[in-house]
Amino acid sequence: MNKPFLTDIKTLRERARKHIEQGAVTEGYKADRVTVIKILNEALATEIVCILRYKRHYFMATGISAQSVAQEFLQHATEEQGHADLIAQRIVQLDGEPNFSPEGILTRSHAEYIEGDNLIDMIKEDLVAERIAIDSYREVINFLGNDDPTTRVMMEGILAMEEEHADDLVSMLEQVGR
Ligand SMILES: [Fe+2]
Ligand SMILES: [Fe+2]
Repeated sequence: MNKPFLTDIKTLRERARKHIEQGAVTEGYKADRVTVIKILNEALATEIVCILRYKRHYFMATGISAQSVAQEFLQHATEEQGHADLIAQRIVQLDGEPNFSPEGILTRSHAEYIEGDNLIDMIKEDLVAERIAIDSYREVINFLGNDDPTTRVMMEGILAMEEEHADDLVSMLEQVGR
């Protein structure tokens, strides 16, 4: 027996012609768009706080093992920037506005901005922040489920990289000596 196609082609075509000004957001979009945009703006704030913290740590890293650790901080900062860009772009696709306002950024962010007094503290604070991002992004992914697969797949990619970051930081801690 043929598996029935979810929506017949005629209906799909008619629906696509309606509300074309909404761009990527079609009638079949199942998620609560306003909530998704709010959640994505919190993720954006989280990424921005992480960029700032890694940049601070990159410039402040000193000591014998600082060279390689600093390079790792810089690489993480660049990757968080990439995440922020992806998230902002998705918010616009969903007909929302990315919130880049410095005001309230720490309140919107899930991760904290902690400077740390020395190399080990810096690595530890970065690790804590990554673990916060990992937990909160996992929740976002569960929330999205099958209602917005594009946003979910994007967040899955970002989550995988935060897990890599956390893993890098653990190795760095071992290398620098706890
Ligand atoms: Fe990130
Ligand atoms: Fe990260």
